Amino acid sequence: MALNKRPKIAIIGSGNIGGILAYHATSRKLGDIVLYDNVEGRAEGKSIDISAAAREDEFDLRITGTSNYEDIADSDIVVITAGASRRYGMSRGDLVAINSENMFGIAQGIRNYAPSACVIVVCNPLDAMVTLCQRCTGFPHQRVMGMAGVLDSARFATFIAEELGVSVRDVNATVLGSHGDCMVPIVRFANVNGIPVMELLRQKYRGDEQRVQETMDALVLRTQKAGGEIIRLLKDKSAYYSPASSILTMIEAIIQNRKRLITATAYLTGQFGVSGYYVGVPCIIGASGVERIVEFEMTPHEKAMFDKSVDDIQQLVAQLPEIPPEFAPKP
Ligand code: LAC
Repeated sequence: MALNKRPKIAIIGSGNIGGILAYHATSRKLGDIVLYDNVEGRAEGKSIDISAAAREDEFDLRITGTSNYEDIADSDIVVITAGASRRYGMSRGDLVAINSENMFGIAQGIRNYAPSACVIVVCNPLDAMVTLCQRCTGFPHQRVMGMAGVLDSARFATFIAEELGVSVRDVNATVLGSHGDCMVPIVRFANVNGIPVMELLRQKYRGDEQRVQETMDALVLRTQKAGGEIIRLLKDKSAYYSPASSILTMIEAIIQNRKRLITATAYLTGQFGVSGYYVGVPCIIGASGVERIVEFEMTPHEKAMFDKSVDDIQQLVAQLPEIPPEFAPKP
């Protein structure tokens, strides 16, 4: 990369996730940031606030706020955090209609001004919104992905660490499938620096197999419902700190071409027996986006859970509206 060119990251939506993401992206010195919001003044206000953190946090990056898609021109990465979030009592599916309307205009802005960007979709229902975003931008599937698996895996790891009394830094956990109640924590893969979590639970509960199984079932269930647990407590908001951190992991993987093997919502073309749908699967993430989907042999139980998750996604995708002609990508 030329020395005078820093990566440019556009963040669409400057609510809680967008604002925190912008702040951490600058303090980690990832690139210049454009914060967009259709509410006049909101992105600009947050960007001025974050700019004034530059001296103390020691970054020399440009952060600007805008309500004009022209300003995202030539971004390397665009993150879509905009859209309504779930309120207490709502399912992710309830958001399909509202957030599809938003997506039409956002995708058009990205297609017009940042046609080479990698796009990370965060708004819910995630699996349907990433599908709609790809359809509306017409971008190659590899460059349009969803962020859910990093967050769901981080939550699973956190709950395991708390249960075992170990540093979460040493916990590996993988959650696949949909970003909904049917997500698939892969228990078999959960380990603490290589030592299987199930084995550590057996040590903790002195071989009481029933207690071990009940404990793991509870960890899995809490992971599946973790987004809802936070909404129940916050009432009118969903999580934002941990989603922002998870997005940063994906941005870093792309900008630094790290080839991280992480779960992303990626378009399947036969992998795991699924074709034509976006699903959370292990991916290699690097400068080109989703560079490879990594398959592995699932057990019958894992495959049954995964297929149920895919059913869920298919039902959400079936609810997506037609793209109005004025928003459709030109052939
Ligand atoms: C969650 C929302 C962001 O899982 O989907 O917290």
